[in-house]
Amino acid sequence: MNVNRALFDDVMVPNYNPAKMIPVKGEGSRVWDQEGKEYVDFAGGIAVNCLGHCHPAMVKALTEQGNKLWHLSNVFTNEPAIRLAKKLTDATFADRVYFANSGAEANEAALKLARRWALDKFGPEKNQIIAFNKGFHGRTFFTVTVGGQPAYSEGFGPKPGAVEHVDYNDLAALEKLMSEQTCAVMMEPLQGEGGVISPDADFVKGVRALCDKYNALLVFDEVQTGFGRTGSLYAYQQLGVSPDILSTAKALGGGFPIGAMLTTDEIAQHLKPGTHGSTYGGNPLACAVAEAVFDVVNTSDVLEGVKVREQLFKNKLQEINEKYGIFKDIRGKGLLIGAELNEKFDGKARDFLNAAADEGTMVLIAGPSVIRFTPSLIIPEQDIVEGLARFERAVAKLAG
Ligand SMILES: Cc1ncc(COP(=O)(O)O)c(C=O)c1O
Repeated sequence: MNVNRALFDDVMVPNYNPAKMIPVKGEGSRVWDQEGKEYVDFAGGIAVNCLGHCHPAMVKALTEQGNKLWHLSNVFTNEPAIRLAKKLTDATFADRVYFANSGAEANEAALKLARRWALDKFGPEKNQIIAFNKGFHGRTFFTVTVGGQPAYSEGFGPKPGAVEHVDYNDLAALEKLMSEQTCAVMMEPLQGEGGVISPDADFVKGVRALCDKYNALLVFDEVQTGFGRTGSLYAYQQLGVSPDILSTAKALGGGFPIGAMLTTDEIAQHLKPGTHGSTYGGNPLACAVAEAVFDVVNTSDVLEGVKVREQLFKNKLQEINEKYGIFKDIRGKGLLIGAELNEKFDGKARDFLNAAADEGTMVLIAGPSVIRFTPSLIIPEQDIVEGLARFERAVAKLAG
């Protein structure tokens, strides 16, 4: 069979428009396509491949578990799921874990739990969910409605109700909207898809205080910030604020699909047997891989290494900017970095992505004018240097 992009166009639902080349192999932070062309991977599968491609600890966990037990469903539990849940609760504010298969599913569970908690404790009036413009929480109908990009949620008929939005970092607007009817506030502790936007220093603390005042749950979507990406296991650990519910996915499995919702003992009690579930949630293969990822990522070596790499990345991007004057801002935390194009290149982020791929570097965008970098957390420093040298060649072509 001739497996190529033309066949993709014939057989796939056209909701994606991937690059023309087809990657076939990856090792560390390098990827090769069908033609043997090699790329430095700064995209990391959209902040997923936190240990790069085919990390030996992950391959070992997957093959060992693959020779033992693949799937049971939640009619039975399994050892990897229990071990992973114990490690996640030991390392965070949470006492309880619900496993899902993706970020959207972890968020769906978080939203349903928040609604059920509020219904049980305060009655049906307390159902308002507040989230933030430009936020992204996944593509199920509930999560995409809570996400703050209407273009993604419109055109599918009536949306789930009682969901409202305010601007990120606008505490006054949030305060105006909140009341005893607010059931939950959902936010990313650093907006990823929306353009790599950090919270102001006091914003997150202010949101926590408002949630406490109105008996509302604070839900942190750490699907993108989670699992080491910002230099701590979860971003909240550097913000001086704990959420009531936290969702995690992407880097949790390092490339194997898994998601999880973490919460406290008291709140968890509101998802009684039968209220929510998933056939694959807590799958032994996924949990075995995630446990291996956890053991590598949750070490000071890796977490401190993220901060070193962040500095190198930002310094090199700054050097490129000094030569070509293309960015108006270089921002983000850890290895979730955004470089916003200035007015001259407004709306042209995709051109840079394509030019970078031609030169042999994979990057991402976050909106039309932000180039996003979410590489492996253990990317070798020489790969950062090489990948950015290639990126600079792309910049020179577009802006030189
Ligand atoms: C913050 C955030 N939440 C949720 C999601 C959805 O995750 P998934 O695509 O695994 O459903 C994403 C994906 O980009 C994300 O960045």
